Amino acid sequence: MAMAISSSLPCSLLMAALMLLAFITEVHGITRHYDFNVTMANVTRLCGTKSIVTVNGQFPGPELVAREGDRVVVRVTNFAQHNISLHWHGIRQLRTGWADGPAYITQCPIQTGQSYVYNFTITGQRGTLWWHAHISWLRATVYGALVILPKLGVPYPFPAPYKEVPIIFGEWWLADTEVVVKQALQTGGGPNVSDAHTINGLPGPLYNCSAKDTYKLKVKPGKTYMLRLINAALNDELFFSIAEHSLTVVEVDAVYVKPFTVDTLIIAPGQTTNVLLTAKPHYPGANYYMSAAPYSTARPATFDNTTVAGILEYEYLDFPSAPSFNKALPLYKPTLPALNDTNFVGNFTAKLRSLATPEYPAAVPKTVDKRFFFTVGLGTHPCPANTTCQGPTNTTQFAASVNNVSFVLPTKALLHSHFTGLSSGVYESDFPVSPLTPFNYTGTPPNNTNVSNGTKLVVIPYGTSVELVMQGTSILGIESHPLHLHGFNFFVVGQGYGNYDAVNDPAKFNLVDPVERNTVGVPAGGWVAIRFLADNPGVWFMHCHLEAHTTWGLRMAWLVLDGSLPHQKLLPPPSDLPKC
Ligand code: C2O
Repeated sequence: MAMAISSSLPCSLLMAALMLLAFITEVHGITRHYDFNVTMANVTRLCGTKSIVTVNGQFPGPELVAREGDRVVVRVTNFAQHNISLHWHGIRQLRTGWADGPAYITQCPIQTGQSYVYNFTITGQRGTLWWHAHISWLRATVYGALVILPKLGVPYPFPAPYKEVPIIFGEWWLADTEVVVKQALQTGGGPNVSDAHTINGLPGPLYNCSAKDTYKLKVKPGKTYMLRLINAALNDELFFSIAEHSLTVVEVDAVYVKPFTVDTLIIAPGQTTNVLLTAKPHYPGANYYMSAAPYSTARPATFDNTTVAGILEYEYLDFPSAPSFNKALPLYKPTLPALNDTNFVGNFTAKLRSLATPEYPAAVPKTVDKRFFFTVGLGTHPCPANTTCQGPTNTTQFAASVNNVSFVLPTKALLHSHFTGLSSGVYESDFPVSPLTPFNYTGTPPNNTNVSNGTKLVVIPYGTSVELVMQGTSILGIESHPLHLHGFNFFVVGQGYGNYDAVNDPAKFNLVDPVERNTVGVPAGGWVAIRFLADNPGVWFMHCHLEAHTTWGLRMAWLVLDGSLPHQKLLPPPSDLPKC
C-alpha cells in the first residue's frame, strides 16, 4: 500500500510532463532531421543499365515525412560529379527563401564534396508535396515524396483511410538526360523524348523487357486507400485511371478540396493529388491495370506517347499469403482519354474547389493592388551565323518566353544579389507588366516569332495583393503550360479558352471557393487568372514545369520586398549557403 502511494506521485508528475510535451509539440511541432547524400547508382530499366544521380542510392528517392508545424532540417552532401540543389516543391518557405533550392535563383549549386543544410518550418500546410533536384535536368532521377501529416490529433476532413500509398509518376530515358538537354541546346531542336513513363520508378508490363519492373498495389476488399499522386515527369502531363474503380479527389498541392469522384484524372508535372480509392467489397477474382498516359496538344513525336501500367490486385482473404499477382485471373484495363483531349482537362480542372469551411477557409484576396498580364508560350531565337539549326526551321532555334522575355539564368544567385544590394549586372527590375507588343494571342501567329533574352524580375512591396492572368499563345502551336510559382499558393479564380477579355471575364471569377494550389495548367489556347497575397519576402521563381519549356526560357522571378515589421523580413542567409 505504502509503495503504491509513494510511486503514484512521480507517476503523476511524469504524466503531467508528458502532457506538457504533447501540448508543446502540438503547438510548436518537432524538428525532423534528414541526411540526403547525393550519390551515383547503377539502375537497370528496359534492359539497359545506366549510372544515375540519386539521393542515398535510392530511386525514387527517400520519402520525407513531417507534420504541419514541424521544422525540417535536411543535410544535403554532394558526392556526385554534378553540381546540385534540391527544391521542396510547394513548401511556402516563409522568410526562409534560402532553403527553397532553385539553382542561381535562391542559392548557388552545392558543388562536389560540399554540403548545405536546408532548414525550414512547415506552416499552415498539410497533404502531399514532393522534393526534387532543381538544376538542369537532374530531377529526372532525383525526386521523392514529401508527406505532411496534419498536426497531432487533427483528423482529415474525410474518413480516415486504411492505408496511405505514394504513387509517383516519372519518365525514364535509356540515354543520359544531361546529354539529351545539352544536345537539344546545341542543335536548337526539341529534346529527345523519354523511353517510358514510370510509377514509383517502374515502367511496367507494356514496355519491352520490363514486366518484372511493375508496380503492384495489393489491397484488401472493402478497405479505403489514400493514393498520394505526384507527377514528377519531366515533360508530360498525365491522365491516370484504375480499371473498374473510381477515385475521389480530396486534396491537391497540399490543400484540401471539396471531394468529387471521377474515373480518370489529369495531373501535370509539379502537381500532387490525393485520391481515395475504395476497394471492391468482396474478392473480385480479377486484376486491374492502373495506367497513366500523356496529355499533349504538341506535334506527334515531340513527346513520349507511351503508357505506364501498374497492377491493382486483391488479397484473397482465405489465403492471405497466396503468391502475389495471379496471372490466371482476368485483367481489366482502363480506357484513357485521347492524347489531345483538352475538353477532358478543362472539365476536370473546373471541378476543383477549395473546401472553404471555417477550419479550412479560402483566403482569396478580394481586392487587387496590382494586375499583371503575362503571355506564356514558345518562340524562336535566330540560328547563330554560318550554322544550321534543328528548330522549327533550319534557321531558327526553339525558345520560350513570358511576355516575350526568355529568361536567362544568372551566374550568381538572385536572392543573395538582392540581399547584399549587389544586383547591378545580375538582374534588372523591369519585367514587363503586360506584353510590350500586344497581338492576337490565340489567333494566327505573328510572322516574327523571335523572343528577347533577359534576367528581369517583377519587384513588389510586401503585402501586395496580386492578380495575374497568364495567356497561352498559338506561336508554334497551342500547348498547355503547367506554371509553378515558388513561395506561395495562389487561387485559381478563372480560366477560359481564346483570348482573355479584361472587360467581361472578371465578372465570372470565383472569389468564393476557388482551388488553391502551387502549379496550374495554362489551358492550351486559353488563359488562367490567379490571385495571391505577396506576404513572403524573397525572390520567387515562376516557371513552366515542363522541363523542356523551362530550359528554353519559360521562366521569370518575383522579388517581394521586406515589410516594415520584424516578422515581415527575409531572414539572413545561413552561414553554409553555397558560393558560386
Ligand atoms: Cu517543382 Cu521550380 O519546381
